[in-house]
Amino acid sequence: MLLKEIYKPVEKELIQIEDLLRDSLERSRRKSILNINNYVLVSPGKRLRPALVALSSKAVSAVQVPGIEKQLVKIATSIELIHMASLIHDDVIDHANLRHNKPTINTKFGEDISIALGDYLYSIAFQLISRCGNLNILDCISSAAKEMCEGELVQVCERDNISLLKKRYLLIIKKKTATLFAASCEAGAIASGCPEEMRASLRRYGLNFGIAFQIIDDCMDLIGKDSELGKLAGADFNMGELTLPALNLLSCSRDKKKVMSLLGRQNRESFQEIRKRFIDSRAFLKTREDASSYLQRSKKCLAGLDESCFKQSLTFLADYMENRIIYDKS
Ligand code: IPE
Ligand code: IPE
Ligand code: MG
Ligand code: MG
Repeated sequence: MLLKEIYKPVEKELIQIEDLLRDSLERSRRKSILNINNYVLVSPGKRLRPALVALSSKAVSAVQVPGIEKQLVKIATSIELIHMASLIHDDVIDHANLRHNKPTINTKFGEDISIALGDYLYSIAFQLISRCGNLNILDCISSAAKEMCEGELVQVCERDNISLLKKRYLLIIKKKTATLFAASCEAGAIASGCPEEMRASLRRYGLNFGIAFQIIDDCMDLIGKDSELGKLAGADFNMGELTLPALNLLSCSRDKKKVMSLLGRQNRESFQEIRKRFIDSRAFLKTREDASSYLQRSKKCLAGLDESCFKQSLTFLADYMENRIIYDKS
């Protein structure tokens, strides 16, 4: 199934989100800023978080809450702006040169612009959220942004830590990635005015989905092709970041010392050797199983929700992620 098909029930909302995103970024009268913002707009991401806001909200809204559409669009746009800002900063932190198959902002405009632009997007996002006039939504999204930044910070601090524990890795990805997914679902639910237990279920759906999402991203960073990822594979290895694929490889390997020394070397040959060992060992299967188990958990969180096309899309999205872990030998 294609993402476009999964997003179908909230197609209308996603168009409005795209419009507000463009509107927010094209408001500046300065040509230099417009030029940079335009570059951001012409290479869009998958818009997963806005889709989750809209799907979650619609999946639990029993009655039509007045003004909910506008609220939803603002929430989803602000979360996407936070996500975009985080990626712009992340590409500086990771020294990444390619995203969405295009040069990153840091490559095209330089690191100074990236830092300033990321901050600019964060501020637009918080201006939008404050205009929702709902303190619970503001708390939900600002707490997620704080967790996300903390997660990025911890990850940088843990670079080159060859004895990183799986527990610590999970904590990092929960903070840096899963919390924003959880907040997307929860903020959508808050806007719909649904009962507390539905809000909590959707938050748990987003959290488990987000953990699986980052495990899959980390797996693809090791085995994926640049052209399919739209970014250069091997970034985690190059930055000395131990992710679950590497941790699983270590625990599956007999010659742990050799794997450890390969992981510490950070050159092209060592990366290829780690990649080969990962694909040929049980570590690949184990990593897939780890991601799948979080996706199964996320789907279970939807059990208490009434059947609808929105709930179905949330289930399809989890299945879509599961099918993303592919290893193409060609
Ligand atoms: C990339 O997220 C960053 C991670 C959390 C791994 P996405 O893959 O959702 O980014 P875009 O928006 O589609 O580029
Ligand atoms: C970044 O994780 C997640 C953020 C919260 C910014 P990654 O560094 O793995 O994301 P990619 O691979 O660059 O997209
Ligand atoms: Mg990165
Ligand atoms: Mg990555």
